[in-house]
Amino acid sequence: MKTLVTGGAGFIGSHIVDRLMNDGYSVIVVDDLSSGHLENVKPWLVDSKFRFVKCDLKEPTGWAEYFEGVDVVFHYAANPEVRVSVAEPRVHFDGNLQATFNVLEACRLFKVPLLLFASTSTVYGDAMQIPTLEDYTPLKPISVYGAIKLACETLISTYSRLYGLKSLMLRYANVVGPRMRHGVVVDFVGKLKVDPRRLEILGDGSQRKSYLYVEDAVEATLKALDYLMASDGSIEVFNVGSEDWISVREIADIVVEAMGLRGVEYVYKPATSDGKGWLGDVKYMLLDISRLKKATDWRPRLKSREAVWKTVESIL
Ligand SMILES: NC(=O)c1ccc[n+]([C@@H]2O[C@H](COP(=O)([O-])OP(=O)(O)OC[C@H]3O[C@@H](n4cnc5c(N)ncnc54)[C@H](O)[C@@H]3O)[C@@H](O)[C@H]2O)c1
Repeated sequence: MKTLVTGGAGFIGSHIVDRLMNDGYSVIVVDDLSSGHLENVKPWLVDSKFRFVKCDLKEPTGWAEYFEGVDVVFHYAANPEVRVSVAEPRVHFDGNLQATFNVLEACRLFKVPLLLFASTSTVYGDAMQIPTLEDYTPLKPISVYGAIKLACETLISTYSRLYGLKSLMLRYANVVGPRMRHGVVVDFVGKLKVDPRRLEILGDGSQRKSYLYVEDAVEATLKALDYLMASDGSIEVFNVGSEDWISVREIADIVVEAMGLRGVEYVYKPATSDGKGWLGDVKYMLLDISRLKKATDWRPRLKSREAVWKTVESIL
């Protein structure tokens, strides 16, 4: 199979690339290196089955020809920073929605049969039902990032209905692991390296979310692809997460313990009256993953705590 991974030099994308290459697929990565790094795919640069294309998907031309003959597109390129989307919405509109439209046009032009899309739990907003099912309504994202991902989902499913592109949206929880460069774990480790006696925590520390180790996320993605290839295309969305959740305060404790520190003073910095870390922060997130478990034999191997612990170790 010939595969194409947008954002393949990024955190999750590069782990998908590793898996595809190890499984014998041929892989084209299209990435503008805005947040990704060539180093993440370095082992494959000399492999004849691998090709790296440095291109900005916001630009409608100059890269679409690489979609010719591709069997499956993994669309993972995006700016993943929720906070950026609230402060500078246009960055996300251009980078995530416009780029997705351009990717869909390339798929249409070259009749790509299959597409997997990296969506997000943030499409649910502050859900009233936890764990949250894929069918949960109303979908009310509280960040521009979540709103635009939801718009991308809608556009992709319409292209599927119109042009026969079989697609699947994977709504990931927080994915953590080696090569990640943003998010709470990276933030805590970085701060404690600078000052091992004091840790500033965004929010009141009671935010509680689900964390999925990147190897589990990749395994789920490949199982979802198998499902998509065999399916009639009627299921369009899968939640992908671990089955438990932990609080930000617990994450701080894990990081402190893993770094061998003691007596660290926690300084809480809530951005909203209900204790969120920033505007657009979903305070409680746990996904119901029974749909994916029923459709495939995928099960997350690590719980949130183990996933965070292993991530801290890899950063250190
Ligand atoms: N990390 C998470 O917890 C998480 C959770 C849910 C969904 N996601 C989604 O998964 C995908 C990957 O996230 P990540 O955490 O690996 O982020 P990342 O920043 O490490 O990877 C994104 C990649 O896309 C590339 N990119 C961005 N804009 C581009 C453009 N216009 N043209 C070409 N390349 C571009 C970047 O250079 C980078 O390599 C994103 O779509 C993100 O929204 C991530």
